[in-house]
Formats: sequence, C-alpha cells, structure tokens
Amino acid sequence: MTIILGLESSCDETAAALVTAEGKILAHRLATQEEAHRPYGGVVPEIAARAHVEALAPLVEAVLADANLTLDQVDVIAATAGPGLIGGVMVGLVTGKALAHAANKPLIAVNHLEGHALSPRLADPSLQFPYLLLLVSGGHCQLLHVRGPGDYARLATTIDDASGEAFDKTAKLLGLGYPGGPAVEQAAAKGDAKAVPLPRPLVGTAEPHFSFAGLKSAVMRAAQSGQYSAEDIAASFQQAVIDCLIDRTEKQLAIHDGVTALVVAGGVAANQSIRAALQALAARYDLPFVAPPLWLCTDNAAMIAWAGAERYAAGLVDDLTVPARPRWPL
Ligand code: KG4
Ligand code: ZN
Repeated sequence: MTIILGLESSCDETAAALVTAEGKILAHRLATQEEAHRPYGGVVPEIAARAHVEALAPLVEAVLADANLTLDQVDVIAATAGPGLIGGVMVGLVTGKALAHAANKPLIAVNHLEGHALSPRLADPSLQFPYLLLLVSGGHCQLLHVRGPGDYARLATTIDDASGEAFDKTAKLLGLGYPGGPAVEQAAAKGDAKAVPLPRPLVGTAEPHFSFAGLKSAVMRAAQSGQYSAEDIAASFQQAVIDCLIDRTEKQLAIHDGVTALVVAGGVAANQSIRAALQALAARYDLPFVAPPLWLCTDNAAMIAWAGAERYAAGLVDDLTVPARPRWPL
C-alpha cells in the first residue's frame, strides 16, 4: 500500500491529509483562518502565512496519529507549490521538503489547480480521462480538457475576475460578510432571481472566455440605487453567474464530443444552484455529471495528496530544488 501525505497552505486554509494510491482517505484535517481574516473582509497574506507556520506541523502530527502511522510509514510527500499567496505556499512547500529530506521520501510539488482538477477522481474512482472540467474557485474560472495527470488543455479562462471573487465582492457590496460565497447563496435562497436586471457578460459570443467585472459593477449600481433588497440582488447575481457558466460550458460540450463526463471542482462548486444547473446541462448532453462532495470542493489537503498519488503513479517526482510559484498556470 502506497501512502501519500498531502500538505495545503496556498490561501487561508492550512491542511494535511493521508491518502492511499487506491484513493482511500486515511485521515484529513483542516485549520481554517476565517476568523483571523474576517475583520478585513478578505484574506490578508501576512496574517495567512504566519497562521500556516503555527498550524501546519501540529496538523501533520495529528493526521499521522489519526491514521495510527509514523512518518516512516508514509511513502510520498506531496505539497502545494503554487499558485497562491507566496508566503503560505512557501510554508507548505518548505515543510514538505523538510519532511521528505528528513524521512528520505520522494517529494511531489503539486499545482493547487491540479489538486482541484483531479479531486473528482478521488471522490469517484470510475471517472475516466478525458473529461471536461469547470474549475471555479476564488482565484480561477476555467474550462479544462483533462486528459491525465500533467496533461491539460485550457479551453477558456476569465478575462477579469474569477467567479468566486465575484461572489466575494458581491457579498462585500451587499454587506453579507465573509466568506462571501456561502453568504450570497444563503441570501439568494430568499430572493427573486428575476427582480434585478443584470448583464450576462460574453454570453452568446464566439470567443470561449468568461468575464465577471461588468456584472460586479452592475451589482454595485443596483445596491447603490436603494431600489432592491439584498436578497433580490443576491438571487439575480447568482442567476447571472449561472447563465454565464452554463453558456460557456455548453459551448465546449458542443465542440468536445468524446469526453466521458462533465465535472465541476473548486470552491464555487459548493453552490447548490450552480451544481443543479450543471447537472441539467450534462443530462441534456447525455453525460454523467460528477461533483466532489462539498468538503472536497473547497481547499483541502486530501486533493493535494491525491494529485500526488496520480503524479507518483505516472512517474512525475520532483527534487528538493523545486520552487514555490505564486503564478503557475496548469
Ligand atoms: O477553491 P477555494 O476553496 O479556494 C481557492 O480559491 O483556491 O474557493 C474559494 C472560493 C471563494 O471565492 C468562495 O466565496 C467560493 O469559493 N465559494 C462559493 C461557495 N462556497 C465557497 N461560491 C458560491 N457559492 C458557495 N456556496
Ligand atoms: Zn482552491
């Protein structure tokens, strides 16, 4: 049995997990920094990096204890090496390097986006390559043709804001608090999605990309007008995002026959209305719809350990000189 230790520290969650090469999750733990960042309405990089330093080593000890294992019994160390807030990424990567060096284990530097991209296969081992992936998180909004570990084609990306960022900014504008995504989803459930006329940027255009900046400005004008309730604005905003995601995703589904499934990953995939809309789209194309369970959608270390497992099986191992990268496209 090959056991992979995964470390995640690229944003505001510190996490460690132990996963087997067969995809069994032996242990996973997460320390969220939500409270530390809440007063600022967003992640403060310096506070995040310091919090990762404090939290990571105890989390590693805790998952080893949970699984009743010692570091010696771990076969591979996988750590997020980017993209993300560089201070946090360095904490996780250097910790991974130190553990790999001390215990004489191979190190795998994982792209955080690859962690999200492969996480659906941890949840559903029957999912085969290639699949069409909608990756929607705080920093990204992309459509990827996923062909295997390390083998991706980026079909579309955002030309301005990421979808999660749009949720977070909308929450801030509406005074719904932090983190924004779940707060907007909750408010939207009590509102009327048709109440506020909002744009659907780039929908119906020939180009493949996403854009949310114009939507954000329209939300700001709607909020400032005093004409609408926060619930109605939240519901109308969420529907506009859904319409954009569905239109762009459908465009690729129409081109890429031969994909085995429509898959969604990333923090925004925790949104139930977005999931439901994607599920209906997949059904129209006679494709299975695969979405990881909610805890696997948002940042965690099990997905990093799993990406490490897939890369290890493909012979993709790194050496101790591998750099931390704030920017790192898949
Ligand atoms: O993948 P993730 O945990 O972190 C990275 O960005 O890598 O994604 C976090 C993003 C945040 O922008 C958050 O507001 C959004 O995912 N999010 C949601 C929901 N839960 C989290 N957006 C919409 N609806 C949700 N329920
Ligand atoms: Zn993420």
